Amino acid sequence: MSKIKGVIFDLDGVIVDTAKFHFLAWKKLANDLGFDFTELQNEELKGVSRVRSLEKILEWGNTSLSEDEFIKKMAVKNDNYLSYITNLTSKDILPGVSRIIDFLTEENIPISLGSASKNARPILKKTGLIEKFHAIVDGNDVSKAKPDPEVFLIAAEKIGVAKENCLVFEDSVAGVQAANIAGMMSIGIGEKDVLHEADHVFSSFEEIEIDFIKKLLTT
Ligand code: BG6
Ligand code: MG
Repeated sequence: MSKIKGVIFDLDGVIVDTAKFHFLAWKKLANDLGFDFTELQNEELKGVSRVRSLEKILEWGNTSLSEDEFIKKMAVKNDNYLSYITNLTSKDILPGVSRIIDFLTEENIPISLGSASKNARPILKKTGLIEKFHAIVDGNDVSKAKPDPEVFLIAAEKIGVAKENCLVFEDSVAGVQAANIAGMMSIGIGEKDVLHEADHVFSSFEEIEIDFIKKLLTT
C-alpha cells in the first residue's frame, strides 16, 4: 500500500448520522405508495444518488411512475429529509470523527468530501465542519452514482493527491466499491459482514487509534 497523502470522507453515515433520516424518508415514500422495504435492502440505498435510490425502491415495489410523478416524489422525499435535519448541529457529528479530522489537519493532510448528496454543503455548515475541508465534491458535481469512482477521482484531483495516495472513509457497500475501483485505500465504518470488501473495517471512528492513521501516513 502507498503512503497516504490525502483523505476523502463520505458524509452520510460517516461524518453525521444522517443515514437514518434518508432511510426514514424513503420508507415513508414507499409506505405512501403501498409497500415497504427492509433494512437489508436499505444497505443498497446507502451511498447511492437520489434518482437511483428511487428507481431501486420502485423496482422493489413493482411500481412505476410517470416522469412528472417521479420528480415530485423525489422532491417530497427531500422535503421530508430536510425537515428531519433542520436542527442538525456540531453535536450530531459522529463520535470520534472530529478527533481524526483534527489530527489530519495538524499533520497537514488535505481533506476532501466525496458524497453523493446534494445536501452536503448545508450539512457541513450546520455541523461547523465546512472550513475543515480543502475540497467538497457532492451530488451536484457528479453524473455517475457510486460504485462509479467519479466522485472520489474528482475529490482526489481537487486536493492534488494521486489516487493511490488517497484513503476513503465510507459506510456504504457502493462507496467502498467506488474507492476500490478508484484504486484508493478503503476504510469501512460499520459492520464487517456488510463492508467486507473494504481494506479495513471499524464499527465507528472511536475504534480507530491515532497510531493506526499515523502509520498510514508514514509507511
Ligand atoms: C448519500 C446517501 O450520501 O446521498 C444516500 O447515502 C442519499 O442515502 C444520497 O440518497 C443522495 O442524497 P441527497 O441528499 O442528495 O438526496
Ligand atoms: Mg454514506
